[in-house]
Amino acid sequence: MKIPFKKTFALMTLALSPAIYSIAADGVKVEHLGTNNTLVRVDSDARYLLMPVQEAYDDATVNVVVDGKLERTIYVRLAKSKVDYQVPFDLSPYKGHDVMLNIVTSQNRSTVREAKEDACWKNFETSDTFDTTNREKYRPAFHHTPLYGWMNDPNGMVYKDGTWHLYYQQNPYGSKWQNMTWGHSSSTDLVNWTHHPAAIEPNGLGSVFSGSAAIDSSNSAGFGNDAIVAMYTSAGVSQIQSLAWSTDGGMTFNIYPGNPVLTLESEARDPNFFWNPETKTWTLVLAHALDHEMLFFTSPDMKEWTLQSAFGNGEGAQDGVWECPDLFKLPVDGSGKEKWVLLCNINPGGPFGGSAIQYFTGDFDGKTFKADTDASGKIPTKWLDYGKDNYALVSWSDAPDGRRTAIGWMSNWQYAAEVPTSQFRSANTLPRELSLFTAPDGQIYAASTPSPELEVLRGKLTVNESGRSVTAKGRTYQLPQANDGICEISLNVDPQKSSKVTFSLANTAGEHVTMDYDVKAGTLSFDRRESGLTDFSQDFPAVTVTPTFTDGGDLELRLFVDRSSIEAFANGGKGVMTNLVFPTLPYSTLTVSAEGGKAKIKNIRIHSLNV
Ligand code: FRU
Repeated sequence: MKIPFKKTFALMTLALSPAIYSIAADGVKVEHLGTNNTLVRVDSDARYLLMPVQEAYDDATVNVVVDGKLERTIYVRLAKSKVDYQVPFDLSPYKGHDVMLNIVTSQNRSTVREAKEDACWKNFETSDTFDTTNREKYRPAFHHTPLYGWMNDPNGMVYKDGTWHLYYQQNPYGSKWQNMTWGHSSSTDLVNWTHHPAAIEPNGLGSVFSGSAAIDSSNSAGFGNDAIVAMYTSAGVSQIQSLAWSTDGGMTFNIYPGNPVLTLESEARDPNFFWNPETKTWTLVLAHALDHEMLFFTSPDMKEWTLQSAFGNGEGAQDGVWECPDLFKLPVDGSGKEKWVLLCNINPGGPFGGSAIQYFTGDFDGKTFKADTDASGKIPTKWLDYGKDNYALVSWSDAPDGRRTAIGWMSNWQYAAEVPTSQFRSANTLPRELSLFTAPDGQIYAASTPSPELEVLRGKLTVNESGRSVTAKGRTYQLPQANDGICEISLNVDPQKSSKVTFSLANTAGEHVTMDYDVKAGTLSFDRRESGLTDFSQDFPAVTVTPTFTDGGDLELRLFVDRSSIEAFANGGKGVMTNLVFPTLPYSTLTVSAEGGKAKIKNIRIHSLNV
């Protein structure tokens, strides 16, 4: 039942110490009750209640009370002195009902008893619209980003009936991490993304952390034939594993009432499961985060799980927590030979600080993972991406044509919350195809290449040149000007007698990214120390280096330049670096130069990109 404000007023005048009222927008009534406690009543048919956010402040606890019952609790960095932006609370599910926010602000917001000064109360507004038009200079033009708000790990990606579903860790109430929800976007071409309402929202067991999804084609869980089943971590006081399912093609999910389906005494999260046709069981990898290992379980129905084994204790990089696993089989060198790949995202402890994707190749018999060893019998540490900004990468389930298509969160926990954007925070990497190759050291490594669908982005071929010698003086190419200079650069360089070939992207403000191919070492470096804005975090300025597996020969390089990122794929994706950059002006030139002798640009192509 909806009680109009007037009646509420009448009731309030009977109280001995009346509440203090703040000035509020139409349809909003603000009453301060006492220490750090305020009621915001909504009396409006509008679609949204817009709440003011100031990122520098701490979270206020916002209890949403509908018809007197607690509906949910969300945490919002309510603005105190300046509104950075507003976030929408969707009122449409409560039309015709009484909606009130019972807000608790922290003690440190005020020294006085009442909460009058604790937030910009007059900036709580009702509205039928929430403007998501892009306001950000650094919003990527051809990478997936959330419409607004914070995003971290990609989750539960599954391909069904021609659609690539991409769920992701989202905060719908601010551009910093909080209120973990599975946001949802989908695409039929891996290039254009449609945004959908949140797929799985926090519930009585906690917020909704990372996880995976798969199609249950045999209805083994009893949720329906071909249901999409999602498994995620319910993060409340403990981290426990829960199921949800969708029978409408991934648009909406039902929460399994028997949750949790898996509990442990220690911290474990980010369930990644798949149907293993060889053992005819569901197989689950769970990150035993603080124990730096992955746990393997099997189940006939996704509801009852049996622990089979653990892998990782003492192996590989052990510095950070182990998170976001993935396990799949791939052909080696495109041949009939196959190997399993176990992805173990770790944070911190990456090769250049912070978050990174470690992986192991090996064998998996359905129960136990046995990692490949090197000549000395040790399990080598391998990294999928030698940039700083590719984390929590996992792959799509049920992708067509045997593809292993994956996507990562294009940021790093070291500074993800500080990057210079505010309407949204973080993008995903370009989708990539994973494959395995044998390197000269006899080890099997993973390569990643941009998904072939991305070629449709190619617009005008602005540079197309072959057979050019370059010296220390360098040769400069103009980058396209359309869409802030976003482009794809493909080149092939024969280092000839040179010892170093340098690729420098620069703008007219003197900001630049310098990439050096060290011919003898066979490495490619990426220096973003003077790439533009870098001082928002001491961990941002960095030089990253990847092996290229070129053996000192030709370097084939593909660069994807977006408004705030560069992805470098060397030698068919054998050496990859994904790095964020925040140039104050778009990079407008590429200069290629050589040291210690001439090098030859065998060919170079630069495409503007259509978005
Ligand atoms: C990795 C991670 C996951 C967790 C999620 C929470 O970035 O820490 O382990 O499920 O983020 O948002």
